[in-house]
Amino acid sequence: MRQPLVAGNWKMNGSRASIEMLLNGLKSGIGAVRVAEVAVCAPAIYLSDVQSRLQGTAIAWGGQDLSAQASGAFTGEIAASMLNDFGCKYVIVGHSERRAYHHESDATVAKKFAAARAAGLIPILCVGETLEEREQGVTEAVVKRQLDAVIELEGVTALADGVVAYEPVWAIGTGRTATPEQAQEVHAYLRARVASQDADVAAGLRILYGGSMKPDNAKELLAKADIDGGLIGGASLKAEDFLGICTAAND
Ligand code: 13P
Repeated sequence: MRQPLVAGNWKMNGSRASIEMLLNGLKSGIGAVRVAEVAVCAPAIYLSDVQSRLQGTAIAWGGQDLSAQASGAFTGEIAASMLNDFGCKYVIVGHSERRAYHHESDATVAKKFAAARAAGLIPILCVGETLEEREQGVTEAVVKRQLDAVIELEGVTALADGVVAYEPVWAIGTGRTATPEQAQEVHAYLRARVASQDADVAAGLRILYGGSMKPDNAKELLAKADIDGGLIGGASLKAEDFLGICTAAND
């Protein structure tokens, strides 16, 4: 049985004060979450605050990106070992905003996945097509290419140490969620792709959905056979909404 994971991606939002309020809200409501594992991926500069507030709670935390390099002259970058220093369990790699605005290639994302894994962090590998790609009918080809880059570099068994998040770019921050059927179709495709190389890895792999997931649509999405949780942007900034999604995994 795959334990659902609901992870918040705060992106570049919040302040010290607002994050403190958010964490207090999460801590007081987390007791109602019985089934899902819960994590928040914070801006790196706040990870120290997040660590001191969440240590000893049921909520894990992580980074939103990391360097593919271990250390050295890479101004502005954050190494996997630094995320470890602040108790991170997870790190997002290959978010579509990194791919689009920072021109991260599939090969770079695969190297970041490897760097995270080598440091004992759990990489959350984001894949997903743009609206144009969906309309061209190349959704499966796009997510296959993004997934295969990791498999080619690290081998399929590396996925046993990670999580995949299917985030259709057209559904991110748009309020336009993929239907449960649309999402399930791609999740099933991704799992089958992994299964063609290793059935056990595929069976254990958590594949999260991300893209305008909210408390009122989470239940239907999470009910699908191959949707094992969510990667939540906007709705992870309000404790009530985020916890609402987490508790949707309860039933
Ligand atoms: P939204 O939930 O705001 O659509 O963002 C999804 C996302 O990009 C999570 O990584």
